Amino acid sequence: MAQHDHNHSWNFETLLVHGGIDHQAKKAGGTPTVPPIYASTTYLHNSVEELDRAFSGTTPEGEDAFVYARQANRSAHALETTLTSAEKGVGTVVFSSGMAAIHASLLAAGLAPGAKIVASKDVYGPSIGLLQKLFIPAGVEVVLADLCCPTAVERIRQEQPDIIYVETISNPLVKVIDIDAISAAAKEIDAVTIVDSTFTPPSLFRPIEHGIDLVVHSATKYIGGHGDSTAGAVISAKNTLLDQVRAYSHLLGSMLGPFDTHLMLRGLRTLSLRMERHCSNAAQVASFLHEHPAVARVHYPGLPDHPQHDIASRLLKPGQYGGLLAFELKEASRAAVFRFMDNLQLCLSATSLGDVFTLISYPPISSHRTLTNTELQNLGITEGCVRVSVGIEHVEDIIQDLDQALKS
Ligand SMILES: Cc1ncc(COP(=O)(O)O)c(C=O)c1O
Repeated sequence: MAQHDHNHSWNFETLLVHGGIDHQAKKAGGTPTVPPIYASTTYLHNSVEELDRAFSGTTPEGEDAFVYARQANRSAHALETTLTSAEKGVGTVVFSSGMAAIHASLLAAGLAPGAKIVASKDVYGPSIGLLQKLFIPAGVEVVLADLCCPTAVERIRQEQPDIIYVETISNPLVKVIDIDAISAAAKEIDAVTIVDSTFTPPSLFRPIEHGIDLVVHSATKYIGGHGDSTAGAVISAKNTLLDQVRAYSHLLGSMLGPFDTHLMLRGLRTLSLRMERHCSNAAQVASFLHEHPAVARVHYPGLPDHPQHDIASRLLKPGQYGGLLAFELKEASRAAVFRFMDNLQLCLSATSLGDVFTLISYPPISSHRTLTNTELQNLGITEGCVRVSVGIEHVEDIIQDLDQALKS
């Protein structure tokens, strides 16, 4: 399906606000300024001959053609076009969740029996679960490696994988991967690269500009931004890969429905603005925690003592180091963390991230729940580790709440 945007000369923020709609193409009787929600599963055409042609996805004039909502639906179109412009790809397919997007991206990249993938050992737990439960039994070789360390490139050269899978910033310790180095190493060995860029939406970082083939988002997080809808997206740098992603979306039936598409597009329009506030709040919260007597250590890429601060400064939008941070309580015990979280009055003790609300989570009971104590230790996640997804509330209110809960 063709995905074009009408004005490539606009700045990023303008593209997000107006993306996917041609406000100049006026219709008699009034043009909606917001794309409608097309809650139709099937589409009529003027003749059976036209219907037959529409199954190819385009009209003879190159316009988008629709026949059945699982294959392509008009509602998703504006969201996909806007994400394509935002990430500077050739096309996007949106999914019903981030996990569905990850699944389709792995299949599209060619993760089939006999193929080998090197994935960062720090990626989201269920992404590792997907590789272990679905792909290893199907005959795929999965290597989990430390790709945040300076020897990552050497490891990739040694392993010679067909596919490399990483996240830009890891959960919960916000380690930053040198995407430039990974992408260069992948090119040497002709491997397909997939980056889960959920923690770094396109206002902060655009992996395709750094040579990455497929970008994945859990749009449930920053792109939607309001904690009211679940979605995923795969943006491709290449048409061949895009066709594969779309083909698997058709087969898996994991497309995004029209109502969630509407919420996602609405969220995406304010992404830049929200990210500015998420990042500036997170930077101030990180500095506050850094000085707090109850806190042993703060992990935030914007702090000069973060191990990958220089990489983050090179890759990310200047001054915007993301909205996620983690910190370790001096009293490093589960009981102390529970007490701290139970005493919060503004920040929400809930899983997920990227919402307008500040969300606090304890990895051993949420994202890393299935890991043993030894596995947690190997990842560097201590008993006193707390993750904060800093929201867009007034920063003084967030800091005051954290302070009173820490004092408790
Ligand atoms: C980095 C990352 N990728 C993927 C996912 C999965 O996204 P979803 O919950 O939308 O399926 C998550 C969810 O927390 C995540 O944090």
